[in-house]
Amino acid sequence: SVPVLTIDGPSGSGKGTISRMVAEKLGWRLLDSGALYRAVGYAAGMEGLDLSDAEAVTRCAQTTKIRFVAATDGSDTRVMVNGHDATDELRTETAGGAASAIASIPSVRQALVDMQLAFRKAPGLVADGRDMGTVIFPEAPFKVFLTASAAERAKRRYKQLKEKGLSVTLATLQREIEARDERDASRTVAPLKPAADAVFIDTTGMGIDVVVAKVLAVVRP
Ligand code: CDP
Repeated sequence: SVPVLTIDGPSGSGKGTISRMVAEKLGWRLLDSGALYRAVGYAAGMEGLDLSDAEAVTRCAQTTKIRFVAATDGSDTRVMVNGHDATDELRTETAGGAASAIASIPSVRQALVDMQLAFRKAPGLVADGRDMGTVIFPEAPFKVFLTASAAERAKRRYKQLKEKGLSVTLATLQREIEARDERDASRTVAPLKPAADAVFIDTTGMGIDVVVAKVLAVVRP
């Protein structure tokens, strides 16, 4: 069957960047599952829904059209939500918070399962998220769990948002990320935790290339 490499971890652990680079090196497809949750949170906000209204948000998750459009010039993949390019809006910590809120609703997660499984196509898939190795692809042959100290994760995310031209303060961002991590780890459905068979990598103080090499070594020892 088509091989899958799952890369799970908390916000700012480097998952996004590492997943993209590893997928490119392997020539495999990429699933950014966080973008799906962000897109549903965003769509629900656009519809003016109460994010704790499980029924309404689930319907939103079932009907929202999400498409990833790869750029031809090497720039970031665009995320289309109901035909609208929402890439920039989805990057904000407001969108991250909305994603985390709706991601704690079991029926919302259920609504996104098939869409995620459909990414598994030859020659392989790199799946980035919180529950890739535990829930969505439990039988994946390759699993990694990335983490880093809370301070370093906040600093990385801060730098990333700054580079994208978003105005944030490090102190506020750190507080928001901690609240989101706490909620992601303590929720009853698909809580953030390493799969029993995942290779655990603490990336604190580690450069991107070193992490990429370590992750690639999991697939090609
Ligand atoms: O980039 P970052 O790690 O900060 O966030 P993300 O991967 O885009 O995910 C945003 C939020 O979606 C997370 O805080 C989780 O609550 C939720 N999520 C999830 O529940 N399951 C996934 N597989 C991916 C994201």
